[in-house]
Amino acid sequence: MTDEIYPVPSDFAARARVTAQDYERRYRASIENPEAFWAEEAQFLQWIKPFTRISDTSFDIADLRINWFEDGTLNASVNCVDRHLPEKADRPAILWEGDAPGESRVVTWGEFFEQVNRLANVLTGLGVGKGDVVTIYLPVIPEVMVAMMACVRLGAVHSVVFSGFSAEALASRIEDARAKVVITANEGHRGGRFHPLKRNVDEALRTQASVAHVVVVRRSPADAPMTGGRDVWYDEALAAAAPWCEPVEVGAEDPLFILYTSGSTGKPKGLLHTTGGYLTHAGTSWRNIFDWRDGDVFWSTADVGWVTAHTYKIYGPLLNGATSVMFEGVPTWPDSSRWWSIIEKHGVSIFYTAPTALRALMREGEGPVRKHDLSSLRVLGSVGEPINPEAWRWFHQTIGGGRCPIVDTYWQTETGAVLLTPLPGAVPNKPGMAGKPYFGVRPEVVDAQGATLEGPASGNLCFRGSWPGQARTILNDRERFSKTYFAPFSGRFFSGDGVLRDADGYYRITGRVDDVVNVSGHRLGTVELESAIASHPAVTEAAVVGYPHEVKGQGVFAYVTLKEGFEETEFLRAEIVAWVRARIGSIASPDIIQWAPALPKNRAGKILRRILTKVAANDFENFGDVSTLAEPAVVEEIVKRRQQTLRKSA
Ligand code: WTA
Repeated sequence: MTDEIYPVPSDFAARARVTAQDYERRYRASIENPEAFWAEEAQFLQWIKPFTRISDTSFDIADLRINWFEDGTLNASVNCVDRHLPEKADRPAILWEGDAPGESRVVTWGEFFEQVNRLANVLTGLGVGKGDVVTIYLPVIPEVMVAMMACVRLGAVHSVVFSGFSAEALASRIEDARAKVVITANEGHRGGRFHPLKRNVDEALRTQASVAHVVVVRRSPADAPMTGGRDVWYDEALAAAAPWCEPVEVGAEDPLFILYTSGSTGKPKGLLHTTGGYLTHAGTSWRNIFDWRDGDVFWSTADVGWVTAHTYKIYGPLLNGATSVMFEGVPTWPDSSRWWSIIEKHGVSIFYTAPTALRALMREGEGPVRKHDLSSLRVLGSVGEPINPEAWRWFHQTIGGGRCPIVDTYWQTETGAVLLTPLPGAVPNKPGMAGKPYFGVRPEVVDAQGATLEGPASGNLCFRGSWPGQARTILNDRERFSKTYFAPFSGRFFSGDGVLRDADGYYRITGRVDDVVNVSGHRLGTVELESAIASHPAVTEAAVVGYPHEVKGQGVFAYVTLKEGFEETEFLRAEIVAWVRARIGSIASPDIIQWAPALPKNRAGKILRRILTKVAANDFENFGDVSTLAEPAVVEEIVKRRQQTLRKSA
């Protein structure tokens, strides 16, 4: 695989924001003197009070500190919106395409600015002030960006929750953040189906006392139940609000947002990002990575509930005053040429998406692509999971016409911004490899004993030294933050990913090494899934592992043991799937449920997932050391059942 190299296209090599020579020089400088490098990058922002202290950081768990530009002050919405008004008030900020073809809106910078101000005034009236948390549970509509910007104008903290999450998942995130206000819509539209978001909020709020008000966007004419004194319609409230709101001055280390992600233990983690460092890293990396210049039309297909959207669909483009496309729907509805029609319609030049969607669209063949003119494309990007070389080549050739570099960007909710990527004008592409470190980033390949490996190697992916965009803590759980990321390999941040580095210094992510599965680019903690399944009245116990899935990358494979008296039926299978959807959301639906009379455990009662992972991948040999098994017959039974299922489906 490493032999296949795609050189930087010649038109890029000469006029890119970062050329090959720039990359070598600036990368070296950024590592030799990170403070000088980042202090210069931070000049990209408009500060109210300039910082004098650059960084104060330590990855030592006894003295964990992550502070950047600490004594500077600023306002995020001024940087993202106000700054662009003098030149761009009448130019488009958002080109929105609704779920149904034909439904579209253009939001100019001027209109965007006014809505942000009005909503900020509405929120103030509802009691929201600096440091308060607002939960945003909205579909991919312009109002989600307005809502985020209105919060940060007040120094309030947004917590965006994916609108595909269930009422129960929403409730736990509201509770953990003690949100004061929820912003939602009457409903969301996706793939021709309507989802009752407001109803989910009502259900979630039955158990949540912290929320005083709900603001409801009218996504459609459909009515929604409104609770008097608590709920207000977005459009009515905005119409009555003043069009100017004084931005609140906040410190660089004041919180900007919380974003929840799954971890290897049950409870989702609320990663906390702060203002000055995150905005510096998001704004400057976005334009370098996508080689953005004024006039480009940028499109990230990510849902607003994920970090990908926070950093590179919302903050990155807004900080740079870029025009971006926003699409509410799915790539396959009404048919699988939908994305390509949107690229043609808006002349999209930079397109950022996920491998799982590419694999699904690749199956439809070239027909749907050929119907559209994609010649506006200049840079392509991939994120969220390893991209297999086959999908990479299809993206490069069929979508990019062989002329667009692909930035395979590696990063995480925790890292805030990209850490590994081939910069498009600087680093030749190798399919399936996430390229080289971004400026200021020092990756290390570490073995199980904690030794840092040099040269070509494989091991655990760690990073040495802080970068401004990284998360500062887990909300309400600093201990878990330090234990998860800084304890496993002392003095380094541990990503939870396995990695391989080749002789040219390129990195390839080999997947999670902890109990997290990556399904269609969505992180799901196996323990969280197991407890959701085990809470079903018919279930004694469950074990969940990932298995290779052609489209999703990994699928969810659940081994389920039933209580006495319950029968292993198809009906019960479907019921358990529905149960998990209701508890977490449809992204967490098990793909395969296999009944297991018992689970393989060691004598201490620990489930041997290693064996279950192999069986799920149809690998029935070399289970490694099985001498610790309490009951070897349990494994034989599980293997037998799996083989029977495979024979039946063959
Ligand atoms: C995986 C998404 C391979 C990885 C930005 C990481 C990737 C997790 C890539 C973070 C990539 C992300 N190649 N794997 N280019 N990008 N991942 O927090 O396992 O939703 O730890 O952030 O996705 O997922 P998260």
